[in-house]
Amino acid sequence: MTTTVRTRVAIVGAGPAGLILSHLLADAGIESIVVDSRSREQIESTIRAGILEQNTADLLRAIDPDTRVDTVGHRHDGIELHFGGEGHRIDFPALVGRSVWLYPQHEVLKDLLALRLGAAQDLRLGVTVEGVEDDGSGHPAVLALDADGSPLRIEADFVVGADGSRSVVRPFVTGSRGGGYFREYPFAWFGILCEAPPSSDELIYSNSEHGFALISQRSPDVQRMYFQCDPATDPATLGDAEIWEALQVRVPGTTLTEGPIIQRDVLRFRSFVAHELRRDRVALVGDAAHTVPPTGAKGMNLAIADVVLLADALRALLVSGDERLIDGYAERALDRIWKAQHYSWWMTSMLHVALDASDFDRRRQLGELHSVVSSESGRAYLAEGYTGWPLPVG
Ligand code: DHB
Repeated sequence: MTTTVRTRVAIVGAGPAGLILSHLLADAGIESIVVDSRSREQIESTIRAGILEQNTADLLRAIDPDTRVDTVGHRHDGIELHFGGEGHRIDFPALVGRSVWLYPQHEVLKDLLALRLGAAQDLRLGVTVEGVEDDGSGHPAVLALDADGSPLRIEADFVVGADGSRSVVRPFVTGSRGGGYFREYPFAWFGILCEAPPSSDELIYSNSEHGFALISQRSPDVQRMYFQCDPATDPATLGDAEIWEALQVRVPGTTLTEGPIIQRDVLRFRSFVAHELRRDRVALVGDAAHTVPPTGAKGMNLAIADVVLLADALRALLVSGDERLIDGYAERALDRIWKAQHYSWWMTSMLHVALDASDFDRRRQLGELHSVVSSESGRAYLAEGYTGWPLPVG
């Protein structure tokens, strides 16, 4: 027996994008149902990046009086770019009058789940979406299996795929599983979480002859660090001593504070933009629509920027019957998506050392890094993208 429920917007995915969208819609009096295949515990413990652009931090404060972005999170006014044996600080407020916040995604998710559940959001976890149906009648439906395995049909006025890079909604929008512009990279990141206080006040992005390393943080007692590795690396094959050695040689001049390694993983790099972001009354946001390589931490910020645009468009469509913004959603979102694709590609290619790099390639890359740090316009370009371009309004 299929259970059928009705709502105005069916949102697939309870990540930052799906939860923020449900909030912005509720603010406009539009009811939604959010479904996700994961449990609350799984959602709250998924380790992702930790940098919020200024806009993202501002939005969290505006929607959630209890956000911990300023208490558990910390403002960061700069980063260090390290290369050729020297560190160069990029001072964000001095260059662009903006900052970023170090506030890990799983903490953002704890806040957002508490916010939405506190507002009695219809949030269904453990629900596996199997497909989307849209016969052009203006009433698409999500077909799913409920947490107990029984068939569930959610009929809506609009369906949003906020269900990540393995999106189930995407093939419906693009017509195929791939369905996009795609690029792979010849390197990956070996990432660790370790129990030790930060090695430096600000994040260090280091280009060294041994490859790239990023020294980041999670909390006063936990650090997140990454070093460039072969995408085929099995995280279980490296011992702790080898990991510390690999990190330490890539950040000469900084003594890393070591501690027990509590998690290790290999992150593959991809750039992807779906060919279509909307088909009739079904749209994609966040990783369902695009993926960026992690250098520069644009992923979650970009997802939230999509949501701000889509919420405006859905408000116009579902409250006033005005289709103009939804018709322009893909074009407007793609503007920022391609800028962020370029920025993430640029930071990645400028900071990583390709295995087959020639002496020319290496010297050119150092020339590029010098040209960025030695010019105020170069530093401002980096700072502007890192702290985030202004969100489109209305
Ligand atoms: C982190 C990840 C990034 O990709 C980045 O650019 C900065 C920080 C992080 O996980 O802390």
